[in-house]
Amino acid sequence: MESRVTYNALADVYDLMYPAASPDIADAVDFIAKITPEPGRVLELGVGNGRIAIPLAERGLTVHGIDGSEQMLAKLADRDPEGKVRATAGDFTATTTGEVYDTVFIALNTFFAPTSADQQVECMRRMAEQLAEGGRVVIEAFDPLPFHQQEGEKTSTRYLSPQSVMIDSTHVMRDRQLILVIHTTVDGSVPQPTQELIRYAWPSEIDLMARLAGLRLVDRFGGWNDEPYGPHSPRHVSVYEAVRSGENGSE
Ligand SMILES: C[S@@+](CC[C@H](N)C(=O)[O-])C[C@H]1O[C@@H](n2cnc3c(N)ncnc32)[C@H](O)[C@@H]1O
Repeated sequence: MESRVTYNALADVYDLMYPAASPDIADAVDFIAKITPEPGRVLELGVGNGRIAIPLAERGLTVHGIDGSEQMLAKLADRDPEGKVRATAGDFTATTTGEVYDTVFIALNTFFAPTSADQQVECMRRMAEQLAEGGRVVIEAFDPLPFHQQEGEKTSTRYLSPQSVMIDSTHVMRDRQLILVIHTTVDGSVPQPTQELIRYAWPSEIDLMARLAGLRLVDRFGGWNDEPYGPHSPRHVSVYEAVRSGENGSE
């Protein structure tokens, strides 16, 4: 199942699943704004409804986003009628905007949306290609360990609104590092399960993918607030730079 199909189906409830008002968004915006030299050009892969990109553009940065879901881009257009964020429709593993940016970032679990290691390497290559000199690639990703250790199916509920909840059922295919999540909204209408397939990768594997794309790790945090990254961090925010020609990229 293609992520475009998944996110077209989730677009109407996405704002309830991941509220734009969450403090994490403010932290992500601060982090990206801080590492981007002014006046600053920023590209977000998987921009979705723009919950990070719009406040970044409101900080005065030039913000572009790529997304494969027409419905998510329609939500972005609704929330951003003045077009503060320039949006490009396309697959971010294959498409570039043809421009370069001081910061190229990918947030939440979006780096795991391409469901093979090869596609994730292609995503990394597109990020490297769109990096201006001295620029940074930033990747937010969750720690796969709890999923990798999961035995059997797990089901949880997520509050959406006083009238609705979402049931998330998670199935892990450990041998392929795949997670199938079945999202079902319960709001009084006929429930329509939506499948989402993601491929998780370990931080060390992501660093190796970065090296294949000519990038090297410069910083790793446990979140957008510069929290130290450690063995129990539930996620990481990793920062990469281009390896200049003539350097081999080793520490
Ligand atoms: C989890 S959402 C994140 C949206 C936004 N970055 C945020 O933090 O709210 C993932 C987004 O990435 C998009 N996406 C996933 N795989 C993609 C691909 N290969 N090419 C373009 N967009 C993709 C989906 O359509 C969706 O809008």
